[in-house]
This record gives sequence, structure tokens and C-alpha cells, in this order.
Amino acid sequence: MATVMSNKKVADGIGLLEVESSQGGKPGQFYMLRAWDQYPLLSRPISIFDVTEDRILFLYQIVGEGTRRFYELRPGDDLQIEGPFGNGFPEVKGSLALVGGGIGIAPLYYMAKKVTDADVYLGFSKEAYLTEEFRNVSKELHIRVGGTVLEQIDFKDYGTVIACGPHGMLKAVQQMQEVIGQPNHVYVSLENRMACGIGACLVCSVKCKDGRKKACTDGPVFPVEEVVFND
Ligand SMILES: Cc1cc2nc3c(=O)[nH]c(=O)nc-3n(C[C@H](O)[C@H](O)[C@H](O)COP(=O)(O)OP(=O)(O)OC[C@H]3O[C@@H](n4cnc5c(N)ncnc54)[C@H](O)[C@@H]3O)c2cc1C
Ligand code: FES
Repeated sequence: MATVMSNKKVADGIGLLEVESSQGGKPGQFYMLRAWDQYPLLSRPISIFDVTEDRILFLYQIVGEGTRRFYELRPGDDLQIEGPFGNGFPEVKGSLALVGGGIGIAPLYYMAKKVTDADVYLGFSKEAYLTEEFRNVSKELHIRVGGTVLEQIDFKDYGTVIACGPHGMLKAVQQMQEVIGQPNHVYVSLENRMACGIGACLVCSVKCKDGRKKACTDGPVFPVEEVVFND
């Protein structure tokens, strides 16, 4: 159990939750969060936004009952957190681009903070948020509101590209990577539905070129050329 230290609105329907914990984690890993006893049934997977010595921060978008309950949390409330889970982001080779669409920006801040020299590309549908925070940890920060941020990046300029965002954006990332053809260069972080978070239920199954994998334990980060995206 962790104690909520703060829970701030950073944009319409977007909250930043800070909890007291020294469990830490690597960039790209996630926690299973639960702010209720029985309903909803399952804990919800949320990426690590940032870690300090005694704090973990989570950036979340309200989409349903679970995330709405997170929004209602107040300082001093208890929150059940289990983790960190998942493989996290890979070792970076050469220059790094971090590409986030919508709430897919959530796992990128901690990575940018750790590596310090990443170019960061953030795409928002309506309203940009946390831009100063990202600017402070990026070599170059590129923001796009509306349209696709992918138009602003040339994958050939980077040794490693890491992307997180909606399904359509990640599929477009795969098409861009196919033009380059260099394996293990572009990675995507998948946000499949999850139930257990520890490899026991198969709810998070990902179709890959060499069979099915589990987003929670084999991922959530995969080389983009491995993933078979549905239409
Ligand atoms: C590894 C991982 C990391 C994640 N990190 C974050 C994060 O940092 N911040 C954040 O806001 N969200 C993140 N998510 C997504 C988050 O887990 C879901 O939005 C959340 O579980 C929804 O719970 P809910 O009870 O609010 O909504 P529900 O009532 O469960 O669902 C409401 C609506 O959202 C849709 N939905 C639910 N989960 C997902 C999903 N995973 N992908 C697409 N649509 C979904 C449902 O189909 C439904 O239409 C992550 C997911 C994974 C797997
Ligand atoms: S969420 Fe249960 S196996 Fe991945």
C-alpha cells in the first residue's frame, strides 16, 4: 500500500498522481494500481511517469471507472500499487528519439530525464500539457497539436526510436520503420488491456511474427518489426 502525496489536474481529463514509495522502477515499466476494494474487479496498468528516491509519479487519462477513481484520490489516501512490471525500454544505441502521442507521452518523461540528450516528439489532439517539464529534460522538444507528430521526425537521424501512443500511430511507426529496414532500431510500447499484469491470464496477448507474446511480461516494449498490428 502506498500513500497519495498529491494528485493534480494538468489538463482536461488528465491527472498527475504522486505516491510515496521507494519501489522505483526502470523507464518503460508499469505498475498495477488499485484505489478500490471490490469494484471494478481488476487493478489498472499505468506507466511510470517519474521516480525519485521516495516517490513514484503516474500520469493518467480519465477514460472509465478505474481512472475516474484515481482522479478522486486526495493527499493521505491509500493506493494499492504492485510493480514494477514489464521489460522497460531497451538499451539505447546512438542518438535517441522519444515519440509520444496522447497519453502515450506518459512513459517518456522518465526516460528523457535518465538519458538527458534525447530529442522528444509529443503529439496532442487538442491541448499540449507538461511541455515545460519535458523541455527541461530534452535535447530538443517538438510539439504538435492536431495532426500527426510523426511528420516532424526522420527515423534515419536516430540510432534508436521509442514510440508510445494510439494503435494507429504505432502502425504508422511500423510503416516508417519498414522504409529504413534496420532491425532493433525502432521500439513501440503497447498499451493492451491487462488483467493480472504478471503473465498468468493471457488477456494482454500480442500477435507477433513468431507467435503470441504477453504484453505484461514479454513487453510492453517490443521491436516494432516483431508486432503484427490488426487493421
Ligand atoms: C503497460 C500499460 C501502461 C499504461 N500506461 C498508462 C499511463 O501511463 N497512463 C494512462 O492514462 N493509461 C495507461 N494505460 C492505459 C490504462 O491502463 C487504461 O486506460 C485503464 O486501464 C482504463 O481503465 P478504466 O477503468 O478507467 O477504463 P475502462 O472502464 O476499463 O475502459 C474505458 C474505455 O477505455 C478503453 N480502454 C481501457 N483500457 C484500454 C487500453 N489499455 N487501451 C485502449 N483502450 C482502453 C475501454 O475499451 C473502454 O472503451 C496503460 C496500459 C498498459 C497496458
Ligand atoms: S495481463 Fe495477464 S498475462 Fe498479461
